Amino acid sequence: DWTPDSFIEETVADLKAKVGNDKVVLGLSGGVDSTVAAVLLNKAIGKNLYCIFVNNGLLRKNEFESVLNQYEGMGLNVKGVDASGRFLEALKGIEDPEKKRKAIGNAFIEVFDDEAHKIEDVTWLAQGTIYPDVIESVSATGGPSATIKSHHNVGGLPDFMKLKIVEPLRAIFKDEVRRVGASLGIDPELLGRHPFPGPGLGIRILGDITAEKVRILQEVDAIFINGLKEWGLYDKVWQAGAMLLPVNSVGVMGDERTYEKCVALRAVESTDGMTADWVNLPYEFLQKTSNDIINKVKGVNRVVYDISSKPPATIEWE
Ligand code: XMP
Repeated sequence: DWTPDSFIEETVADLKAKVGNDKVVLGLSGGVDSTVAAVLLNKAIGKNLYCIFVNNGLLRKNEFESVLNQYEGMGLNVKGVDASGRFLEALKGIEDPEKKRKAIGNAFIEVFDDEAHKIEDVTWLAQGTIYPDVIESVSATGGPSATIKSHHNVGGLPDFMKLKIVEPLRAIFKDEVRRVGASLGIDPELLGRHPFPGPGLGIRILGDITAEKVRILQEVDAIFINGLKEWGLYDKVWQAGAMLLPVNSVGVMGDERTYEKCVALRAVESTDGMTADWVNLPYEFLQKTSNDIINKVKGVNRVVYDISSKPPATIEWE
């Protein structure tokens, strides 16, 4: 029978046999899959695993620093690369969702390729691909694999994609990945994190992306997510986040009329992201969250809650 411990033992032995003394590069995303893959490889080959964690400037508030610290605390050989400016530059003026994905994907490939080139004699690329990714090969992967297709359109493969591939999680499901992670001693909070799309806040800012919009959405998102945690609701929700809408609406503040941004909050229940139902969050929670957002986040004067299920509405708005 399958147990996390037998899986770990076999996988570590397999990785040692397969990789030997070779060097491996892996892109960490802050998500469960890439983290568990990294810890398994670290157990098998230690410092020959070179992890790269890229800040695309579209992560949640404080995420880059706090997750990087956490990775270092876990003993991973990890390099944090802050490429926020490069991504924002690449996204300038782009409004179309698929074009944004492509721009983010291509920027990621460039940054990752640059970094991989700095590792002498690296021969393997490790990925946190899990079984559902293998069968569906949907866009729902954060790392390099998500972007291979769009890069094909541009020309030849970047060098890191010519590396040999190692995917220690390719035969198991998400819940099994979480159990393996728990057995490996990974922080339960990290293992229980909601899924977060590779293009990050880039597909939650409808329309074009600016540094100011990212900052606003990070504040709104942090209030919503921290509130879910404080109210004990975070673990009851499969995924949650906020969208910054490309409309202004009229409000009042004191004697003044305001004409400011509107944000939509979304929280869904799901098992695999293929279908999803909106979550019946308590009105008291929504009331408090809405007040907090409008009082604390300058530039936002209206909050709405998304009560659409998938299908036909997708989880993300873009
Ligand atoms: P949708 O919006 O299609 O989302 O209902 C289903 C799941 O996939 C995530 N998602 C993405 N993940 N790159 C990713 O890595 C993407 O381009 C992307 N688009 C959607 C979404 O967050 C949800 O978990």
